[in-house]
This record gives sequence, C-alpha cells and structure tokens, in this order.
Amino acid sequence: MALIEIRNVYKIFGEGREQEAALDLARDGVEKNDVLVETGCTLGLKDVSLSVERGEIFVVMGLSGSGKSTLIRHINRLIDPTTGQVLVDGRDVLEFSPEELLAFRRGAVSMVFQRFALFPHMTVLENVGYGLEVQGVDPEERRRRAMAWIEDVELTGYENAYPAQLSGGMQQRVGLARALCTDPEILLMDEPFSALDPLIRKQMQEHLIALQRDLKKTIVFITHDLDEALHLGDHVAILKDGVIDQIGKPNEILLRPATDYVREFVREVKRGRILKTGDVMWPPDEAAAGPTISRDAVLQDALPVSMESESPLRVVDETGAMVGVLSRSALLRGLTDRGGEM
Ligand SMILES: Nc1ncnc2c1ncn2[C@@H]1O[C@H](COP(=O)(O)OP(=O)(O)OP(=O)(O)O)[C@@H](O)[C@H]1O
Ligand SMILES: [Mg+2]
Repeated sequence: MALIEIRNVYKIFGEGREQEAALDLARDGVEKNDVLVETGCTLGLKDVSLSVERGEIFVVMGLSGSGKSTLIRHINRLIDPTTGQVLVDGRDVLEFSPEELLAFRRGAVSMVFQRFALFPHMTVLENVGYGLEVQGVDPEERRRRAMAWIEDVELTGYENAYPAQLSGGMQQRVGLARALCTDPEILLMDEPFSALDPLIRKQMQEHLIALQRDLKKTIVFITHDLDEALHLGDHVAILKDGVIDQIGKPNEILLRPATDYVREFVREVKRGRILKTGDVMWPPDEAAAGPTISRDAVLQDALPVSMESESPLRVVDETGAMVGVLSRSALLRGLTDRGGEM
C-alpha cells in the first residue's frame, strides 16, 4: 500500500457560507478566478488525489500560486482539507488526537522549507540537533547524531558557526541535516533549492540523489522547475490552479504530455538528461552489431557513443541481453522531439 494517500481533497480558503458556495461551484467545474469573483473565496486545491509509494521521491511541480505549499502542508496537517482524506500509512491524519499529531510531527515526518528557516541565534550544531532536543534526547547522544549528519552534508568544521556566517547553499544543507537528524520516515521539502544559484542547486540535487540512494526515505518534493522535477522525481505531479493536470513517471510526462499546459512546459526541458535509451529504442534486431549501451543510460550519455559508431547501438539490460536497437536518428529524434508522439 502507498505510504501517503491523498484522496479527493478540496481546499477552499474562505469563511462559512461563502466557503460552501465556493465548494459547490468548484465541484460544478467553475474555475478558480470565477469562484473568487463570485464568492470571495480562493480555490486552493480542487479534487486532488495522489499516492506516494514508500521510498520514492514524489515531486509536485507547478507555478507560483498553483497550490503546491497548500498541498504539501496537508500531509503533516499544517492545513486541514475542506473535504477529502489524507492517509499516512493507512491512518487518517484528520483523526489524530493532539498528542498523536505532535508525536507524528516530531517523529515520522520532517519538513525542509524554501527559505532555510534556520534559528539565527543557534549554531549549526544546535540547529541540526534541535529536533532531537525537542524529543528529549540527551545532549551527548544529540551531539553525536547531529555531528554525523553535519559530516554527511559536508559541513564538518562549521558546527559552531551561525547561519548568517554561511552561504545559502550551506544553510540549506544545514536545513537538510536538521530534517534528517530525527530519522523521519517522510521528508517534506517545499521548494528547498529554489533560492539557490543554478550551479549550487545542481550540486544540491546530486547530493539529495546520493543521500537518497542510502536512506530510501519517502520524499515529497516541491518545485516550480520542471527540469528539477523530472530529474529528481520517481513520479511527478503537475499542478495548475489547484488541479492536477498529470501524474506520471518523468519519461511518461515527456513522451505523453496529458494536456496542452503540460506540453507547453515540456518544450523547455533538457530531454537528454531525462530520457533513457530504453525510452526511444527500436525493437531488438540481432543483425545490429554496434557497441552496446545500457537501456538506463540517458540520451546525453548515449550521444557520444552513437557519434563514434557507424552502426546502431545494441541496447542491453542489466544481464547484458539485447533489448533493443538505438539508431542515431532515433536518438536525435528523442533529443529534439517537441513534446509530440514518439
Ligand atoms: N492562508 C491562506 N488564505 C487565503 N488564501 C491562501 C492561503 N494560503 C494560500 N492561499 C491561496 O491559495 C493558492 C495557492 O497558494 P500556495 O501558497 O499553495 O501556492 P504555491 O504553489 O505554493 O506558490 P509559491 O510557488 O509562490 O510558493 C493561492 O491562490 C493563494 O493565494
Ligand atoms: Mg509555496
């Protein structure tokens, strides 16, 4: 079973009778702007359903105001839905008692915020160990575990520095270490890298991917950048005006965009970093004698191999068995196709 299940969630920001009127309008298919004009209420989310599997990175991508923060905040119940259900590990978070909710927020789930949100008067070590302090873990143990995470995010030597003495990328690594220090099962990351320079941001993405290889946490990751979404996500949901336009694996979204809106976005993506040879190959042909390439190789890595070879490449699986053929034209089409059918 999925670890996180969001079922038919509507969120209307507004009061009393207007809120109910807004909910009825939203259910009848009236759009966000018209709901606002007619009722004064904001349609935050409309009939959102999704499942997050244990151990995956699930990315929610959308523009500013599309409802991303609203959505992620339902998971640790910083926001209650107007209607609908939020289940974590089969339990309805709306039915948690106050004590259960507190325990849930301190233990099973952590959040990393967009603008670092570190405590300015605490050192790196104190910030990272904060969650453990709240849990009542003794200082010795706290220090040991916090130092281990500081080392993991490559900040050894900075444990006594204050946040203001660190660069944005370093501060965000402190935020990540702080979120991981309590060893939560679920990590909620609300645009954690958006405020970083492109280069630092790429480093942070790789860092997260490397960490996740060992940790296998369940991560819900928010971004407004489709490249980042497709690079990090096992599944990606595209949110527009509070509505999910499409949920799929990165290659599905690239190869089969479900709406014009998604197609528009997909045009700007660096496909060579996302699509794999297995996504664009042709059926196997024993006559093909070219060099071999893994079906999991991304197109940008297959390109130089293909350029060196007169004949099409043999695409192989983990066992070395041939699963397809990659011609240079299929490769180039995969790299340049503009969100159309393959
Ligand atoms: N507390 C609130 N009261 C009223 N309206 C709200 C509230 N929180 C969010 N909204 C509205 O809900 C919609 C979604 O907001 P949300 O913050 O979830 O967007 P977002 O996708 O996270 O945007 P950003 O990328 O700018 O962070 C917006 O129209 C916003 O104005
Ligand atoms: Mg937001």
